[in-house]
Amino acid sequence: MRVDVYFTPLGPKEGDLAGRGVVVIDILRATTTIVAALANGAKAVIPAATSEEAVRLTANLEKDGFLLAGERKCVKIEGFALGNSPREMTPEVVAGKTVFLATTNGTPALVAAQGGDPVLVGAAVNFGALAERARAAFQERGDLAIICAGREKQFALEDAYAAGRLVKAVKKGARKVSLNDAAAVALALTDQYGAWEDALKRCAAAQQLKELNLGEDVAFCATPDRFHTVPTFAERRIT
Ligand code: MLT
Repeated sequence: MRVDVYFTPLGPKEGDLAGRGVVVIDILRATTTIVAALANGAKAVIPAATSEEAVRLTANLEKDGFLLAGERKCVKIEGFALGNSPREMTPEVVAGKTVFLATTNGTPALVAAQGGDPVLVGAAVNFGALAERARAAFQERGDLAIICAGREKQFALEDAYAAGRLVKAVKKGARKVSLNDAAAVALALTDQYGAWEDALKRCAAAQQLKELNLGEDVAFCATPDRFHTVPTFAERRIT
């Protein structure tokens, strides 16, 4: 049995994910936003690699059936209905809608993870339910790949910490689990921090969000098990 962690979406080579159980993580904030949107009644979230692609995908759709959402440098994209804040994804706003989401790191990481089976969307806010689903996929397949969205194709502490917690949860009780080097490091990292809030306090993405007066988003993203939804990405839709 084997668990591989990739600290950036550039890690897996072409074909590496085909038929494998995959979890994609962008704690601050894209995967948290997706979990919140679906838990609050959105019909689906469509991740786009770029804002232009998100706009293109909605070109022929009925206006009242979808919402465009996304950020650049953590700030809402001009002309889009929503930014990338999980706190914006309230039932009043998203219920029954399809959300087309374009973010800097999170949605491109999801688009790159297509081919995994299943592709699960992970965050702290759904961590308990995620760990259960990922563990089931791991036991069925004997194999799991965890992809961190990272920041600008670089290591991000909050995603690596989450990956380590997931490695710990899925390998619990299993004998002889092989880890790649990144999975071993992610696992060791979990011992360095007391809890989610502790790890997120320290990371650069949280500092940037706080400077933009988005500290409440950081607190939202650091609160485990707000939701039991485990979104799955298949055929270009997250549901
Ligand atoms: C991303 O995809 O890079 C992030 O979700 C950025 C953000 O916090 O908006």
